[in-house]
Amino acid sequence: MKEISLEKFGLLTKQIGKNCQYFDEISSTNLYLLENCERFSDGTVITAGYQTQGKGRQQREWMGEKETSLLFSVLLKPDLPLELKLKIVFAAACAVKLSIHKLYGITPSVKWPNDIYIEDKKIAGILCQMSGNSVIAGIGVNVNQEELPESIRSIASSLYLISSQKLEIFHVLSVILNYLEKFSLTLEQEGFFPIREEILKNFYLKGKTVSVETGKDIITGMVTGMDEDGHLLLDTGNRVKTIFAGDAHICS
Ligand code: BTN
Repeated sequence: MKEISLEKFGLLTKQIGKNCQYFDEISSTNLYLLENCERFSDGTVITAGYQTQGKGRQQREWMGEKETSLLFSVLLKPDLPLELKLKIVFAAACAVKLSIHKLYGITPSVKWPNDIYIEDKKIAGILCQMSGNSVIAGIGVNVNQEELPESIRSIASSLYLISSQKLEIFHVLSVILNYLEKFSLTLEQEGFFPIREEILKNFYLKGKTVSVETGKDIITGMVTGMDEDGHLLLDTGNRVKTIFAGDAHICS
């Protein structure tokens, strides 16, 4: 493990990322913080060159090529009611979206609830997990990969493949952390409203017909937006249904 000082890579925060630990290899940065959240302070960042058990939502695996993708988790101990803690995933999505815009001049879209898309391909994913009062925001961004594994090539891409620019991974991390602190403060001071507005500016699913697996049902309809609580709104023909959680698959 190495302590990384992110200031020289552009970190401008008061708290997030001031303590940053880098592992060449780890099981999963989320798992590591879940197991150690009591002994680390608010804003601690764990990042890794490679994860042997990278986790995505719904128990999926998160693949990250050695050193070319950005893999990190942020430990947050916010003084927020539960309903706002659950919105940290959206604050993180805003942070990734605006960072990509700042660094590459490209504006990605947010695929509800937690994926970042450019040109119909997934560039980044976010997995927020809770343990006691702590929230662990785990983010994987495909930054410098020259190619992706065959199995995900049709659905995912990297920022390098899209922009032909290779950037220093810790610079990308620092810019995301700067925005994450800004949006965490927004959540604390102004609530979810401004974050929802930011997400809805580039809402990948808007107007698309999707089917969503909610756990017990599969609901199909056209996405009309996201409500004030972060739930997906689906026009099913006879009424607008509110989807609390699930995975939305675009119907072709
Ligand atoms: C998803 O797309 O379903 C979420 C992917 C989240 C991946 C990141 S990589 C860093 C952190 N550690 C993990 O094991 N997962 C998150």
